[in-house]
Amino acid sequence: MDTHSVYPLKLRNRNSINYTYVIVDHTTRQLAIIDPAWELAKIESTMHMLNGHLTTILLTHSHNDHVNLVHRLLEKYNPQVYLSHKEIHYYNFACENLHPFEDNDVIMLGDTSVSCMLTPGHTYGSSCFLISNDLFTGDTVFIEGCGLCDTVGGDPDKMFHSIQRIKSTIKPEVQIFPGHSYGKDPGYTLEYLLRHNIYFQFINKEHFINFRMRKGQKNLFNFC
Ligand SMILES: [Fe+2]
Repeated sequence: MDTHSVYPLKLRNRNSINYTYVIVDHTTRQLAIIDPAWELAKIESTMHMLNGHLTTILLTHSHNDHVNLVHRLLEKYNPQVYLSHKEIHYYNFACENLHPFEDNDVIMLGDTSVSCMLTPGHTYGSSCFLISNDLFTGDTVFIEGCGLCDTVGGDPDKMFHSIQRIKSTIKPEVQIFPGHSYGKDPGYTLEYLLRHNIYFQFINKEHFINFRMRKGQKNLFNFC
């Protein structure tokens, strides 16, 4: 039986919509928040409903829309914060209680194991977190596409390899929980992405890079 449950929260700030996830460890009622974005009151009402205590913040990367509430949560709950070593040093990210992790490190949330998987491409040190059969992907992959690779520290070559790694190491039945949605709710399986996400179809790296970096993209899903 799973040691944890996942509570997806769709949170808004003006035009930005992010998915933040609250994870509860069943035995200890310890809580983790993945990528605390906006709307602190909504996050806190979920924490209250779960009757848990926040011990852990897991960050997939350091873009503001994924870390915006870290400082306020630190002031109120004093949790431990985890971000990849590469991301911390490349972007000079700093906060209290910050723990750098390396690829394949395991973080414990009570009895629940969180495996860290470095998946650079969207940023220099972007990561995914695997908890049992749930993969939290930040802006590396979405249900419908993958993250942009043209901001500071982004690299489409690395994104290609990160997606190949997900394809080859994650089980098809694993559910995908991204940082944003472009129509599909979080929780589709990797098997669905393997069939429907265009960025999972490329086997040639140059073709992938040319497509990811193509000119005239009006938005993430202007595939023509
Ligand atoms: Fe991002």
